[in-house]
Amino acid sequence: MSTAAIIPAAGLGVRLGGEAPKAFREVGGDSLLVHAVRGLSAATAAGLSCFVVAVPPGTEDVVRKQLDPYVGPAELRVVPGGAERTDSVRAALDLVPAEGIDCVLVHDAARSFVPVDVIERVVAAVLAGAPAVVPVIPVTDTIKRVDGDGVVVDTPDRSALVAVQTPQGFEPSVLRRAHAVEGAGATDDAMLCERLGVAVRTVEGSEDAFKVTRPRDLLLAEWILAERGA
Ligand code: CTP
Ligand code: MG
Repeated sequence: MSTAAIIPAAGLGVRLGGEAPKAFREVGGDSLLVHAVRGLSAATAAGLSCFVVAVPPGTEDVVRKQLDPYVGPAELRVVPGGAERTDSVRAALDLVPAEGIDCVLVHDAARSFVPVDVIERVVAAVLAGAPAVVPVIPVTDTIKRVDGDGVVVDTPDRSALVAVQTPQGFEPSVLRRAHAVEGAGATDDAMLCERLGVAVRTVEGSEDAFKVTRPRDLLLAEWILAERGA
């Protein structure tokens, strides 16, 4: 059993602000990207044999050196990312080994503190036969759909809504087929699979798998590290 992890880390982090791209911002002395890779490596039951990381163009060598100590015996490949997240994932997917991989994870560098049990649940579901798997948590806000003028159209039943996280897991050929079609407007990889009519299974996610997006999220990240005694 062998898993490859794609890590899109090529975003600018406009909402977070600051000098460096988001993946290079540090919490507790390590970059968000290092935290993400260390988290995946700790999921020993996931059987990770290869990491493919998409980074801001020009930072490939620096990232390779930075991540090398954290991938263990797994292979590390670093590629320049693209304009949109989907472009970055696709560039990385091209470097996932064509043979010998049973599951491909796609995991946002910005979800740097995902617990090991979430990662292992996703991989286990793929290995059990699900073509596409996403970790989810309940939605706590009431969500409304609005029109172009900001007027409420309707209120979907909250009990049928979930918030989706990463890592998302895929049977390799399914993810390749999903990325072979036009990916415009896709905000995650499961959405590309849905467009193909592939059933996407859900597993339990975690609040700790939140996406570092805005400045206050860095405080939450520090709090999680302190709570874990890191
Ligand atoms: N990402 C990427 N390539 C892009 C855009 C995003 O690899 N062209 C990655 C980010 O690095 C991040 C993940 O996709 O790990 C989720 O994206 P998001 O949280 O939106 O990060 P950014 O795009 O960097 O942030 P912002 O939208 O605020 O600029
Ligand atoms: Mg973005």
